Amino acid sequence: MEEQANYLLESLATAVLVVDDQLSVKYANLAAQSVLERSDNQLLGFPVTQFISHSSVAFSRLKNVFKKNDGFSDGEVLLTFFDGRHILADVTVTCFEHQKKSALLLEIKVIDQQKRISQESQQWAQQQAARELIRGLAHEIKNPLGGLRGAAQLLEKQLPNQELKEFTQVIVEQSDRLTNLVDRLLGPNSPPNFQWANIHQVLEKIRTLVSLDDIKNIDIARDYDPSIPDMFFDQDMLQQAVLNIVRNSVQALAEQPYQGQILLKSRIKRQLTIHGKKHPLVAQIKIIDNGPGIPLELKDTLFYPMVTGKSNGTGLGLSIAQTLVDQHEGKIDVESWPGHTEFKIFLPIIKKESAE
Ligand SMILES: Nc1ncnc2c1ncn2[C@@H]1O[C@H](COP(=O)(O)OP(=O)(O)OP(=O)(O)O)[C@@H](O)[C@H]1O
Ligand SMILES: [Mg+2]
Repeated sequence: MEEQANYLLESLATAVLVVDDQLSVKYANLAAQSVLERSDNQLLGFPVTQFISHSSVAFSRLKNVFKKNDGFSDGEVLLTFFDGRHILADVTVTCFEHQKKSALLLEIKVIDQQKRISQESQQWAQQQAARELIRGLAHEIKNPLGGLRGAAQLLEKQLPNQELKEFTQVIVEQSDRLTNLVDRLLGPNSPPNFQWANIHQVLEKIRTLVSLDDIKNIDIARDYDPSIPDMFFDQDMLQQAVLNIVRNSVQALAEQPYQGQILLKSRIKRQLTIHGKKHPLVAQIKIIDNGPGIPLELKDTLFYPMVTGKSNGTGLGLSIAQTLVDQHEGKIDVESWPGHTEFKIFLPIIKKESAE
């Protein structure tokens, strides 16, 4: 019977780990060895913190389970390994008695690619809906604002003394400020001006622009794939999109005491599906920084308008970047953990011959 139970455990597709109160591995089934990419003897006796560099479920929470002698389940946990590999998994933790001591049973069920894709399209649909809502609202605010400003200016002309004019000026200034915000919420209002150009020119321009910003302690490196052909895109729009992402990296790094690094990287990907459409060739632009990472509580809604982690942020940068990339039939992905944030922009490449 015991043999059979063992056989069953080893055959499970779910990774099963037993750890002690120091989080050292006492048992790992085959699926666990495969997820961690380590054999039995590289796992047994070693604490999980030696393999997993970051988990969106804090390790302290595991230790708490011991104290309380209970357990928990968490969906879509991001686990990052020391080689940079990362997985999304549903995790269940249970406290139980193992060889007369209390131990934790960890069940790690890796969420497969299919689910990731359906999550992705669901998130995309929600973002679209949120954007439409905000755009509608912005539009409604914009019209009366013009009227308010005009009326204040007319009133100003009728006012008998200078002191009173201060008040009408406040109205004018504040409506200008609001108009500015509303315009950003509404996003680009002219249709894209697509032209053939090299994507690296755009990236180089951004490098120059950002280095002019007078930032200390931040290096901007590049790693381009020169074989990426000319592409058909709106240069201003893509520049704005990438710049919004790079500026976030700069802002995140500026507060750090260590040397900040931003890497702009370009590569070609083949046979990639973007929003349900398969593209034979896609350019991938990565913007990687070694900053503190995106705050956990923002991750699910990062691309929504008005989501910000900054006291002075409007939370529009990423939402605008996404609108601009959407207009190129592309998409933006993000992966982030403390010390590493990676934005990936995917843009379909069409062949010049087939476009003409
Ligand atoms: N590279 C990054 N590292 C850490 N956090 C980031 C990074 N990029 C984005 N974020 C987080 O995502 C939030 C949303 O970014 P977004 O650009 O949309 O808005 P914002 O920068 O707050 O405001 P705005 O861009 O409109 O001035 C940021 O406030 C920040 O908390
Ligand atoms: Mg920003």
